[in-house]
Amino acid sequence: MIVLGIETSCDDTSVAIVENGTKVLSSIVSSQIKVHSPFGGVVPELASRHHLQNIRYVYEEALKLAGITINHIDLIGVTVGPGLLGALLVGLSFAKGVSFVSGIPFIPLNHIECHIQSVFIEHGEKIRLPALAFVVSGGHTHLFYLNEKREIKLLAKTRDDAVGETYDKFARMLDLGYPGGPLIDRFAREGEPSYKLPIPKMSDGSDDMSFSGIKTFLLRTIQKEGEDLNIKDLAASFQKTIADILIDKVKKFERDYTVKSILLTGGVSANSYLRKRFKEEFEDRFFVPSPEFSTDNAAMVASLAYHKREEKGEFFQECFSALNF
Ligand code: KG4
Ligand code: ZN
Repeated sequence: MIVLGIETSCDDTSVAIVENGTKVLSSIVSSQIKVHSPFGGVVPELASRHHLQNIRYVYEEALKLAGITINHIDLIGVTVGPGLLGALLVGLSFAKGVSFVSGIPFIPLNHIECHIQSVFIEHGEKIRLPALAFVVSGGHTHLFYLNEKREIKLLAKTRDDAVGETYDKFARMLDLGYPGGPLIDRFAREGEPSYKLPIPKMSDGSDDMSFSGIKTFLLRTIQKEGEDLNIKDLAASFQKTIADILIDKVKKFERDYTVKSILLTGGVSANSYLRKRFKEEFEDRFFVPSPEFSTDNAAMVASLAYHKREEKGEFFQECFSALNF
């Protein structure tokens, strides 16, 4: 089964073609980093406009690279949320249009579930269930439990900023540019974790997480130290604290649940230090997508559409009747 995936939930316009859920025939991502960088974050209206300008070309390029035409596609998968509403609408409208003209059915998909799926593209055969799956991105820091049937249950989430958002805000405080994750990642490689950051605790004893206190600490430290600030050391300390928090959370739930695999997904899972720490901690039970499938991409969307249709036999709505915003 050949599936066309479409992803426009934030600032990446992406179309991919995936055969049987794992064979990626093409995966095109048109990044809008240059558009949003001067603003230090994603401007929703600009994101929608650029998706609109780019989507057709990205779609044509994906077909061309895969060496097929639309007639070879069996199913279309499209992200419908969560994300920026105007941005999502561009992808959904495009999917509806292609579906209507070609008669190919489409299936609307959840972005967080797509991130979890991203690690199954390359590692599906090795991953053993039940598993714990972290989705750590610009919009989410959510820990899920996947049972033997791959049913998903939310265990813990951030109550305020997501980890990726904290990376982006940290970089913005330092005027480094956007997105902050890869930039802080690079600085941290040459630094020592000499700063002691606060480890947030929930006053109600909940397993949820919070990162706004860390953000405030970073801002105060930058203001207080001024010219004397050692950016590399602060970046290394920040990364170490984030890794400590996420690993501790996984370990806590490993004690409460039977778990055979640990999955790390979402844009922040591209982080070199985080990948290293998780690998050291969880060894062969640990799985992470290649960086190209960590950040937003449509291959994970196409792969999830296949999984829903073929492996779970889920019903989905045909053509343009699904989801009217
Ligand atoms: O999954 P994603 O592409 O989009 C959302 O669904 O949010 O994640 C984007 C986030 C951004 O906050 C970006 O700074 C972060 O992922 N990110 C990283 C790295 N690469 C991207 N964070 C830390 N280290 C990286 N290497
Ligand atoms: Zn995402």
